[in-house]
Amino acid sequence: MALDILISSDHGGVNLKSILVSYLKTNGFNVRDLGPYEASASVDYPDYAAKLANEMQQYNFKGILICGSGIGMSIAINRYEWVRGALVHDETTARLCREHNDANVIILGGRILGEFTAISCVNIFLNTSFLGGRHQKRINKLRNSKMIMPPQENKNASG
Ligand code: RB5
Repeated sequence: MALDILISSDHGGVNLKSILVSYLKTNGFNVRDLGPYEASASVDYPDYAAKLANEMQQYNFKGILICGSGIGMSIAINRYEWVRGALVHDETTARLCREHNDANVIILGGRILGEFTAISCVNIFLNTSFLGGRHQKRINKLRNSKMIMPPQENKNASG
């Protein structure tokens, strides 16, 4: 059965997104493109990270996110506790994010990576398994960790 993949970006990632969508469709994947579809209209990356996160929560698919540098999408998507998003720059980080971190979202910089490297990273991401073992213990610790909040301000303090 063909693997289902979600993909989204901001305007800085639209061009690379359309290259990846064509590539993945040609190679038999079911790709759901959550937009945007034009590089000329500026959009905000947290909105598209949220779209992908919400779909992932329902369907448990793997995801691909792209913004100009990859950094904004990487920060935004890791706010969702069911996501382990990895900003990837090359084949090695694409492999390690699956083997060691069980990443379920790959994040790419549309203005950083060439299309051949990006395609290669996505292929590795989709075809590499999590190694488990000592790495599973670390994933469990991530799961159990709570959001750390700053101390509450004392609103009644005077002076
Ligand atoms: C948009 O210009 C750019 O800031 C965005 O794509 C991304 O690189 C942010 O991290």
